[in-house]
Amino acid sequence: MPIELDKAGPIATLTLNRPEKLNALTVEMLLQMEQHLLALSRDADIRVLLIKGAGDRSFCVGADIHAWADLDAVAMWRNWITEGHRIFDLLARLRVPTIAVLNGYTFGGGLELALAADIRLAANHVQLALPEVQLGIVPGWGGTNRLPALVGAARAKQMVFTGMRISAEQAASWGLVNEVVDTDTLEQHAQNMASAICNNGPLAVQMTKQLIDGNAAGSSGFQLEALASGFARFTEDAIEGVASFKEKRPPVFKGQ
Ligand code: COA
Repeated sequence: MPIELDKAGPIATLTLNRPEKLNALTVEMLLQMEQHLLALSRDADIRVLLIKGAGDRSFCVGADIHAWADLDAVAMWRNWITEGHRIFDLLARLRVPTIAVLNGYTFGGGLELALAADIRLAANHVQLALPEVQLGIVPGWGGTNRLPALVGAARAKQMVFTGMRISAEQAASWGLVNEVVDTDTLEQHAQNMASAICNNGPLAVQMTKQLIDGNAAGSSGFQLEALASGFARFTEDAIEGVASFKEKRPPVFKGQ
């Protein structure tokens, strides 16, 4: 399968498995990814998700150019852009922490996918770019939103206007990747980070993710609503409210 999901205890790994095309993304791959993410969002045993590219050359080189080259504007919008937005948003909002493990080219939609993760780890040979303007198109899967949010408008503009490739070191100095490690230690480093997260209180970690995302500039109140809903449900007042409904009587609230 072009997208594989493996689980080892509390650590899940999603692998883009199309190395002969440097893991270029097709709509079929996006839809498979969506099914895996939906399953993970309901899986209480999973505490961390790693996202990887198969092979040793590429994390992902973006949308499959051959697949979208002949689409008209409506099909491009309906079948590519909105699908990508929905599925990358699903990743960004996943309850558990997500780590993109960058082992090679991270270009275009591949970088946009990595930007939807919480943390990015990169091997030292990795190059990153949003080269869409070199094809006469714009970064359409979140790049004009998530990249400036992470590195600032000026650096995002420099990358997008020129299509330049930046090294893992430069990306780290810009805050675009969290850490750069030797290629042969990348896998172990990612596992160690995932294990460190798994050693902590899972609810505290997941609530903290929602709080940080909820506080991010321009975000909506959905994360705060989710946290408040979970908390409110276990107040004495909520227990009384549900009991009164079942017993067909007025509730007696105590503000506790
Ligand atoms: N879409 C579809 N196929 C792609 C692809 C993409 N974005 N990027 C690479 N591939 C395919 C190549 O067509 C080639 O397939 P083939 O062997 O059947 O011809 C295979 O992956 C290997 O790529 P190749 O170009 O031969 O490797 P390279 O080492 O010479 O160059 C890159 C690697 C990444 C520099 C080059 O492939 C590239 O620039 N790709 C386009 C990246 C891009 O513009 N992404 C944004 C897309 S919106």
